[in-house]
Amino acid sequence: MYNTIPLAEDLFYVGASNRRLSLFEGAYPVPRGVSYNSYLLIDGKTVLFDTADASVEDLFLENVERALGGRELDYLVVHHAEPDHSACVCRILERYPSAVVLASAKAIQMLKNFCGELPARSVAVKEGDTVSVGKYTLQFISAPMIHWPEVMFTYIPEREMLFTADAFGTFGALDGSVFADELHFERDFLSEARRYYFNIVGKYGAQVQSALKKLSDKPLSLVCPLHGPVWRSGFSSYLETYGKWSAYLPEERGVVIFYASVYGHTKNAAELLASALAAEGVREVRTYDVSVTHGSEMLAEAFRYSHAVFASVTLNAGIFPAMEQLINELKAHNFQNRKYAIIENGSWAPQAGALIEAQLSALKNTEKVGETVKMISALSEQGAADLRVLAKNIADDVCGKI
Ligand code: FEO
Repeated sequence: MYNTIPLAEDLFYVGASNRRLSLFEGAYPVPRGVSYNSYLLIDGKTVLFDTADASVEDLFLENVERALGGRELDYLVVHHAEPDHSACVCRILERYPSAVVLASAKAIQMLKNFCGELPARSVAVKEGDTVSVGKYTLQFISAPMIHWPEVMFTYIPEREMLFTADAFGTFGALDGSVFADELHFERDFLSEARRYYFNIVGKYGAQVQSALKKLSDKPLSLVCPLHGPVWRSGFSSYLETYGKWSAYLPEERGVVIFYASVYGHTKNAAELLASALAAEGVREVRTYDVSVTHGSEMLAEAFRYSHAVFASVTLNAGIFPAMEQLINELKAHNFQNRKYAIIENGSWAPQAGALIEAQLSALKNTEKVGETVKMISALSEQGAADLRVLAKNIADDVCGKI
């Protein structure tokens, strides 16, 4: 049975959520599911903004049919050709053969690459192009690399509505209301929005900043992303957070500690450091075991805080593999503008500390705090004293005393 949701005059939500998906894009756990948003505008012409993932195709098609109310579909706007939003393009065009696809030239080529043929009726649009659909005008805004190169947004000036593809999206299914102001966004979605942003879009901060600049003079009454809640009020605060994320600035002053431990001694050091940081007055301390926490979670936490500590055993004359994987992910996502500290362990020939430092020091605007705390097997009295000194150095930095 259809589940269309009126969003505003002439605009319907026709998307759907999936709560059975274990890995989004085959890589990211989504324990709270994910929504695939799609929107239908009813004007002189009818306009569908994106389709949906194959997993929700049946409900999506039923929603579109219901929202059209017997009318033909005139336009299908494809903001992003990734299959979680374009998987149903072929089915839509089969059902509504007179529909014209409006998309960037790159998106049209990508649809051909995925579907094997070009849409029969398609028009390539670019930055600044407009299409009148009756009372309303579609204005296209190029937004490359958010999160693929073909991406664009659509702005409807008469209603101050913005359709933003993956930008401002979050993991998490929609339960009940689709409006952010009717949900507990900070409590229930912000951490998943952060995880979504840094894992999916975060590599392209410069491009996000450029898109945000284009939006700066546009009044926004309704913001419609392709995943997660729709914004009709309170958006400025989320926009400000997005500004920080895309500039690679810490969202909070605090310390995230990542540790790799085989027999618990490095874990012991990480926890002792966490306690010492708290004793020094640092309120925001998070501690993660890299062997058990998913990389997508740790990536988001590393970008959330101003300071990160990497505590690793040495394995096979290198960094413990799960820690090395985390550092590789940070590098791949342009980790920068952060302070870091290091704890190293090794029962013989410890090398993890120097190897970690070589990688982190090469990143843009990173700075080491304190000396590397060196452990041989288990934490000694001297090691514990060194950790307390490190905690003081980090705490002074976090709390702005130096
Ligand atoms: Fe939600 Fe980049 O697709």
